[in-house]
Amino acid sequence: MNITSYFAKDLFQGKTVFITGGSSGINLGIARNFAAVGANLGIVGRAQAKLDVAAAELRELGAQVSTHSADVRDYPALEQAMRQCREELGPMHTLICGAAGNFPLAAEQISPNGFKSVLDIDLLGSFHACRAGFEQLKETQGNIIFISAGQAFMPYAFQAHVGAAKAGIDQMMRNLALEWGRFGIRCNSIAPGPIEGTEGVRRLVPEGSADKLKKMIPLGRFGTPDDIGQLSVFLASPLAGYITGTRVVADGGQNLPGSGAWTQLIMAEMAKAQKPQ
Ligand code: COA
Repeated sequence: MNITSYFAKDLFQGKTVFITGGSSGINLGIARNFAAVGANLGIVGRAQAKLDVAAAELRELGAQVSTHSADVRDYPALEQAMRQCREELGPMHTLICGAAGNFPLAAEQISPNGFKSVLDIDLLGSFHACRAGFEQLKETQGNIIFISAGQAFMPYAFQAHVGAAKAGIDQMMRNLALEWGRFGIRCNSIAPGPIEGTEGVRRLVPEGSADKLKKMIPLGRFGTPDDIGQLSVFLASPLAGYITGTRVVADGGQNLPGSGAWTQLIMAEMAKAQKPQ
């Protein structure tokens, strides 16, 4: 796989980037773009087999890769993964809090445990990563990028749990930017729109609706993992050295008209899917 990177090839030479949920989707796209500018990568995921496939691809791009099978909800496991990654690749310069869970469901049908699972993976898992990575980031005067979503600031039907989690992430990002600026640590988040080929799109876009949904996006297309990968490299680099506490929305303009049309389409499609035959 070739990456067209607009940055200097050695921008992250010898630096370590640690990515939770890094074995697939947007997060793997981010990993690829860091590999293209010389970074070494620590990736965490729940399934070792998926991590192995991702690592092979990243090594082909020239990166050293350290894989860690761990659940971000398990703090000691994440701490251990970060310790081991440091031993293999050196202290992390950039932390990407990308691990996330989602399933679309009407609020009155979400079980308390389903709601909690999403909060635990997205919000608590992001805190775990920041808390466990703090000492390394302090040492490198590094930075954190959280993967947020439009649901953080726009209500979407069937996304009550995700909206709560992502809004929490963005507010935590601002808190950490405020507190950790004194250590030279920058914190920002990215709110991607729908990204082509990801589990998120598979779960959230009803079959046959992609073209209709694309027409509702001002730029007329879904994003690509590279759209988010390039933005992540920019935010983590000295090019963004004075940017902290900011959410960057990279959604092709999806959220500008609000979520009404999207919500109506999704609700209609979901209702059709749930109709007894
Ligand atoms: N609809 C309704 N409830 C669901 C569900 C669905 N599609 N998927 C999971 N749940 C509920 C379960 O029923 C369970 O609640 P219960 O104990 O009251 O029955 C709860 O969520 C936890 O499910 P479980 O499968 O045990 O959790 P998990 O920790 O293994 O998985 C999820 C977490 C639910 C977020 C799962 O969807 C996941 O692992 N997602 C990761 C990948 C992903 O979502 N990627 C897209 C990111 S945008």
